[in-house]
Amino acid sequence: MNILNKNCDISIFGGHGDLSFRKLLPSLYYLFKDKYLGEKSRILIISRKDISSEDNIILIKNKLKEFVEKEYFTEECFNKFKEMLYVIKVDFSNTNSYLVLKNFYKNSKNEDRINYLSTSPEFFPSICKALSEYKLINDNSRVVLEKPIGRDLESSQDINKEVLKYFDEKQIFRIDHYLGKDTVQNILALRFSNRFIMPLWDSSNIDHVQITVSESVGVEGRWGYYDQYGAMRDMIQNHLMQLLCLIAMEPPCSLEANNIRDEKVKVLRSLRTINARNISENTVRAQYKAGISEGKSVPGYLEGEGVSQSTTETFAAIKVDIDNWRWNGVPFYIRSGKRMQQRNSEIVVHFKEIPHSIFNDNDEHIAQNKLVITLQPKESIKLCLLGKVPGLVENMKLQEIDLELHSATNTNRKNEAYERLILDVINNDPTLFMRLDEVDEAWKWTDSIIQGWSDNLVPMKNYQAGTDGPTAAIQLIAKDGRSWHE
Ligand code: BG6
Repeated sequence: MNILNKNCDISIFGGHGDLSFRKLLPSLYYLFKDKYLGEKSRILIISRKDISSEDNIILIKNKLKEFVEKEYFTEECFNKFKEMLYVIKVDFSNTNSYLVLKNFYKNSKNEDRINYLSTSPEFFPSICKALSEYKLINDNSRVVLEKPIGRDLESSQDINKEVLKYFDEKQIFRIDHYLGKDTVQNILALRFSNRFIMPLWDSSNIDHVQITVSESVGVEGRWGYYDQYGAMRDMIQNHLMQLLCLIAMEPPCSLEANNIRDEKVKVLRSLRTINARNISENTVRAQYKAGISEGKSVPGYLEGEGVSQSTTETFAAIKVDIDNWRWNGVPFYIRSGKRMQQRNSEIVVHFKEIPHSIFNDNDEHIAQNKLVITLQPKESIKLCLLGKVPGLVENMKLQEIDLELHSATNTNRKNEAYERLILDVINNDPTLFMRLDEVDEAWKWTDSIIQGWSDNLVPMKNYQAGTDGPTAAIQLIAKDGRSWHE
């Protein structure tokens, strides 16, 4: 369902924030360049900054030059794109300042209005309330909420309850940009369009699953935000949970948004609770110390900011059990950390060993087959199989052979996840967005771990920046006789 050239007003609240500069505006620029935005669309940068239109254009031009791939930024395209850009000063804590926005909309012919809330979640309710008070919400309005929504189930429910006073559930797009990544969507295609995968996808054939999202960067000037959230709330509650759901869900009866969301929510409800009884054997939390990252010395999490104390984790590893028929006895090991050795996000499905080997000449035991779905740094999907070493040399010596799935692409540029998702909001397609009950269930599960950590039931470990995380994470999986895929 791609309705091209739809004219709409897209207001970015927090328009001068990091996410807007790095991802939202570059994605809108790409969409404009590729003719997905209607010519009469308008992009409203809503910010607390006092800045003239001219200076705003210069600022955005510089940011686009920094964050758009070099060969795609052209003066000619920017000169057309800038015609869509407007800057409006709104102070979120002062309702009167929304009057400017009201005046701006007065003569608007665009019925479709997208309010992208790229602010701290505590502002979501007041922004929605002000939009309603100024009668800036119509039937074609949508609101996009950036993750994480709240810091726990309670605050998330409070925020969602407020937003729902002004927007219907179908107008709310809760974004998790991992769902906009092509390879993540490819999980659905791979699982549900290939016959041979279907009978293999359960506990009789799969030994365990690993999900890793590691980043080499630190908190990149976002300490104020990050220290309130940590790896659990920033990454696990949303990105890693969504990946886990796509791997573990039952086949939906169609691609329709609610059918997919129904299946994801069932997975979240089947997650075995981790609480005081089992938290110490199933979770690891850690913070990075100074080290060498990508050839440079980098300070530790605390040193960088000159603070002496913080119990925020920059790394988390968890053994997750899914209590349902399909996944009984198949652990999902998930981990995510900042300042790790390399940027690497992947899902590895480890199949069980063959029941009996006839290849006696192989000194080592036969490797397990693996399906490796890599999201970063380079998206790919490969199936690791075994085959014979070619030639006369050795009789039936086995070697690992990778079968790679290269997705055919009609463009040289890899789309940003946000391009896909913004386009879906424009086209009113909620399939890749989280429904309220998904967010609630994900919080319920993470809350009890966060509680156990704040009760100090699991010691905070350290790891050196630029490494693979704490040794406790290696032990977490090693005690089950397994190891992380490197
Ligand atoms: C964001 C987190 O949601 O995802 C960041 O807030 C993190 O802390 C980022 O760096 C990672 O996204 P990606 O697409 O680069 O893996």
